[in-house]
Amino acid sequence: MKRSKKLFIWEIMVSVLLMTQIGCHMNAQNKAEESLKIGITLYNQYDTFVSAMMNDLQEYAIAQEKEWETDIIIDIYNASGSQIMQNEQVEKMIEDGCDVVCVNLVDRTEPTVIIDMAEKNNIPVIFFNRELVEEDLERGNNLYYVGAKTLESGIMQGEIAAAIFKNNVKADKNADGIFQYVVLEGEAGHQDAIVRTEYSVSTIVDNGVRVEKLGYAIANWNRAQSQTKMAHMLLEYGENIELVLANNDDMALGVVDALKTAEIPTEEWPVVLGIDGTEIGIKAVKNREMAGTVYNDANGQAERMLDLAYELCIGGELERLGLEDGKYIRLPYAKVEPDDVDKFLHSQSSDSKPHT
Ligand code: GAL
Repeated sequence: MKRSKKLFIWEIMVSVLLMTQIGCHMNAQNKAEESLKIGITLYNQYDTFVSAMMNDLQEYAIAQEKEWETDIIIDIYNASGSQIMQNEQVEKMIEDGCDVVCVNLVDRTEPTVIIDMAEKNNIPVIFFNRELVEEDLERGNNLYYVGAKTLESGIMQGEIAAAIFKNNVKADKNADGIFQYVVLEGEAGHQDAIVRTEYSVSTIVDNGVRVEKLGYAIANWNRAQSQTKMAHMLLEYGENIELVLANNDDMALGVVDALKTAEIPTEEWPVVLGIDGTEIGIKAVKNREMAGTVYNDANGQAERMLDLAYELCIGGELERLGLEDGKYIRLPYAKVEPDDVDKFLHSQSSDSKPHT
């Protein structure tokens, strides 16, 4: 199992803690106990957004240890795109005595093995970022989901695109009154990819802008794949492309890479929009390589996930966390455009919360 240096260092730290701790168990008095052991498995540790979320979670855990008077032990596993490996990792976490298991599902349609193991052992599971269908979440009493308000990302990206078209005549390069676009999509079947593409385009149209789809390509959230796919689309559609809707920032940056490699002068670039508001994405908005992005609150999701894990561990009051239907935590998105980019950049270098 390959791990990033940062995760490795973290694991050494948490292993030292582990030697001195006792486990955290449900407690009738709702009183915090000495330690909380959390097992986390990631669908792919190299995913930019997910790894940023893990860094935020680790920083928050360090801050909360004092506040909660609890040692927090976190073991992070990389499932490397294999659902079978992820199932085995969850089995190991349960054997290792994790109080709570957090799962970034590889295959969002295949949570059954994990749900069955957790139910049998009476361990709470928090799924995050890759949403399972509601029926699966209903299959146990101790299952939760932490993510974002999915529809908002596409709607906000569409609003940014429509405003650019209306306010900037140069965006309509061929001056035909129609926004010719291509889409770079995330993984097929991922809830965010499906919804972002659909709502981004429908919002542009709802805002009174006519559109024409030239093409699309699936690039699995990945910058290098996106660069390759965009290079093909540039050969096929060339300067007819006026707008690129990328389902995330890494793919938008891959588009920027392709435009640079093709040596297209910046004044002839299409409008490039992403989603996530990763640090590199926001910097690209600041330097105008991307026209905008939509902030996906990695920090907020990380913090709410740890809060939930803690309350589940101590048998605390979940009400204060404001769960929807007793099971869901969903955080809002925010638009990031060149003029307000600094408050997001500032947030990433300090506590990574946008100061709105
Ligand atoms: C999305 C995010 C993508 C990618 C994906 C992984 O929410 O926008 O960049 O991280 O999750 O599941």
